[in-house]
Amino acid sequence: MRIGGTHYRAIWMDGDPGVVKVIDQRKLPFEFRVYDLRSAKDAHEAIADMVVRGAPLIGVTAAFGLYLEAHRSDPNDWCQEVKEAASLLIAARPTAVNLQYAVDLVLNELNCAGSREGMVERLFHLAMQLAEEEVRRCARIGEHGISLIREIHERTSRPVNILTHCNAGWLACVDYGTATAPIYLAYDQGIPVHVWVDETRPRNQGARLTAYELGEHGVPHTVIVDNAGGHLMQHGEVDLVIVGSDRTTRNGDVANKIGTYLKALAAYDNKIPFYVALPSSSIDFNMTRGEEIEIENRKQEEVTYMEGWSEHLRAPHQVRILPEGSPAANPGFDVTPARLVTGLITEKGICPASEDGIKTLFEK
Ligand code: MRU
Repeated sequence: MRIGGTHYRAIWMDGDPGVVKVIDQRKLPFEFRVYDLRSAKDAHEAIADMVVRGAPLIGVTAAFGLYLEAHRSDPNDWCQEVKEAASLLIAARPTAVNLQYAVDLVLNELNCAGSREGMVERLFHLAMQLAEEEVRRCARIGEHGISLIREIHERTSRPVNILTHCNAGWLACVDYGTATAPIYLAYDQGIPVHVWVDETRPRNQGARLTAYELGEHGVPHTVIVDNAGGHLMQHGEVDLVIVGSDRTTRNGDVANKIGTYLKALAAYDNKIPFYVALPSSSIDFNMTRGEEIEIENRKQEEVTYMEGWSEHLRAPHQVRILPEGSPAANPGFDVTPARLVTGLITEKGICPASEDGIKTLFEK
């Protein structure tokens, strides 16, 4: 993905086998800073503190974290160290299933009887392969999802207005993004699009990250407060909603960033198609329904404080926005029931949000 004309991915290696590089997403859009990971502990901190975030990216970061741990481990105790690192990483954030998916992928390959050198090599290739797979999945999501945008444009002969929530873009996914992949492809193919970007309180991933990504790519977009979507839908200003997912259960229920459910309700009431774009690594085939999903509760300070660019200080600056002492609650995700989801856009095609629908694409 382009930043100032240079192609970046959200995670990469740069010649040093002991260092994995990520973009520090806490600093965007005010500062572009590269952050080095050298151990599983670094990867854990980066995930927990949201240096990296977004379901596919935290999975890939965990896989690289386990490789780094094997690389730096004590030659006599390397396997135990990797296993302990796996438990640490899984606990970093509970809602996105991609973390479990990536850690399981590595643990299934871990052979404590084999040589450490061989295993370091194997874990390196596994992490690289997972990153490439996520990129390929997102590219395929784009190729399937573009049909929805093209159909609306051909029917209406005007720019297609798409609303999205949070950041399900390339920053969340190594490259392309999930919700954004069809949008980037449509834009690149000359289909006129305009994106309504929910700011996505409390951390403002929409205002800070999605707007940044779309702007760097040149995609027309407008940031709106989280409460504006319903109004815009009532007034015919939204043709299509596309969001991402942190965990989709077997029956098609979708956990995504807090506020997604309200957008789905408003879309349903206004008969606007509401699609969820997700790679199969975000489907929890072991979980029957959304009620079972653990919802992450994050710290109050994310609600009580807000960060932005101070024109006065010419630097990022935090301010308290609540009366001192007022408590705040901060559930990070909500579950949109399958009945409100028009369809799932996956790397294998578009299907209804239901067990039967998912089975048509993912036999196993
Ligand atoms: O808390 P975050 O920023 O990790 O939440 C991210 C989201 O909710 C995304 O929409 C989701 O991970 C899908 S990413 C393709």
